[in-house]
Amino acid sequence: MDLFEYQARDLFEAHGVPVLAGIVAHTPEEAKAAAEKIGGVTVVKAQVKVGGRGKAGGVKVAKTPDEAFEHAQKILGMDIKGHTVKKVMIAQGADIAEEYYFSVLLDRANRNYLAMCSVEGGMEIEQLAVERPEALAKVPVDPATGIDAAKGAEIAEAAGFAPELREKVADVIVKLWDVFKGEDATLVEVNPLVKTGSGDLIALDGKVSLDENASFRHKEHEELADKESEDPLEAKAKALDLNYVKLDGEVGIIGNGAGLVMSTLDVVAYAGEKHGNVKPANFLDIGGGASAEVMANGLSIILGDEQVKSVFVNVFGGITACDAVANGIVGALSKLGDSANKPLVVRLDGNNVDEGRRILHEANHPLVTLAENMDQGADKAAELAAK
Ligand SMILES: Nc1ncnc2c1ncn2[C@@H]1O[C@H](COP(=O)(O)OP(=O)(O)OP(=O)(O)O)[C@@H](O)[C@H]1O
Ligand SMILES: [Mg+2]
Repeated sequence: MDLFEYQARDLFEAHGVPVLAGIVAHTPEEAKAAAEKIGGVTVVKAQVKVGGRGKAGGVKVAKTPDEAFEHAQKILGMDIKGHTVKKVMIAQGADIAEEYYFSVLLDRANRNYLAMCSVEGGMEIEQLAVERPEALAKVPVDPATGIDAAKGAEIAEAAGFAPELREKVADVIVKLWDVFKGEDATLVEVNPLVKTGSGDLIALDGKVSLDENASFRHKEHEELADKESEDPLEAKAKALDLNYVKLDGEVGIIGNGAGLVMSTLDVVAYAGEKHGNVKPANFLDIGGGASAEVMANGLSIILGDEQVKSVFVNVFGGITACDAVANGIVGALSKLGDSANKPLVVRLDGNNVDEGRRILHEANHPLVTLAENMDQGADKAAELAAK
């Protein structure tokens, strides 16, 4: 889960990373009040989960509360790379002498953590990484030992900090590691980390991604979720513990096992080319236990998507045999009653397939068509969606 800058700022503060005052505002009036409260020069900053806000005009300095009002008026509602700005953060203005860069992230390719740091931070960091990669230090971090003062100093030195600054920088880096480890993050990035005119270090902008696999030990992270922009169907699926991702097409998909569902998406997309270019409407993996309840939950999510015109249920019976799945489908349809109102194509194969097909034949539900195989099922579902 990616966080907004103001949420990252709050986590930084909680772990002792030096930050400036910041107040979230949803309206220009709130922005003005926040600027009055903070006092002096402030910066109005768009809160969107995408980079390049400054360059897009989403970060503006305000000398007075009235200016903060005007900037907020312009920035709220702005579109930044497809993200609508719904809130701004009013940040205390910093007297910036120098801008640095620091990040620590999960390095999946190398099965390790990686710290990156540079004395040349700021809005051009992407360009720097491409044009002069040697100016961006990359230091592997052993997960077992993490970043202590010595490791922090090593990173600061590799980044090109002058000897007299290294200890100070290392101290901030150790605290940022504390955020990374303590919050179970996969990314903590500060750009810019600034040195002020009086020589203090401050994290002026933060990006944090939290590892949702660790959410069971961070109940407090729940309230960081962005309910406002969550897709309502995805939210409902999450509450039901289903692996569901909404897509843009017309053919609803239910399968068991992520691999099978992925290939079902491909096969349906391919079949759809012959039928008015219909596409998969979602990813939904019901996993191992295809009980009537799980099937009914899955179907109710998919049928709740107005764009869906047909549903393809593609199940390979393994530990959960096809007869159990067939009973699940029949049970789900009777459970859903009139709200099951779109044609269903069902392909069953694997463990106990004959019994599964017999059950569906016998139920003879008017919405259900049995497919011979995966390709034919995808074709039929696409054809029904195109009607
Ligand atoms: N509180 C502040 N006081 C003074 N200047 C600031 C402040 N916050 C940001 N700035 C200036 O604005 C620039 C851009 O701000 P920031 O890093 O927050 O946004 P961004 O980098 O453009 O956005 P993103 O990180 O999403 O790409 C900074 O490099 C800094 O020069
Ligand atoms: Mg930035």
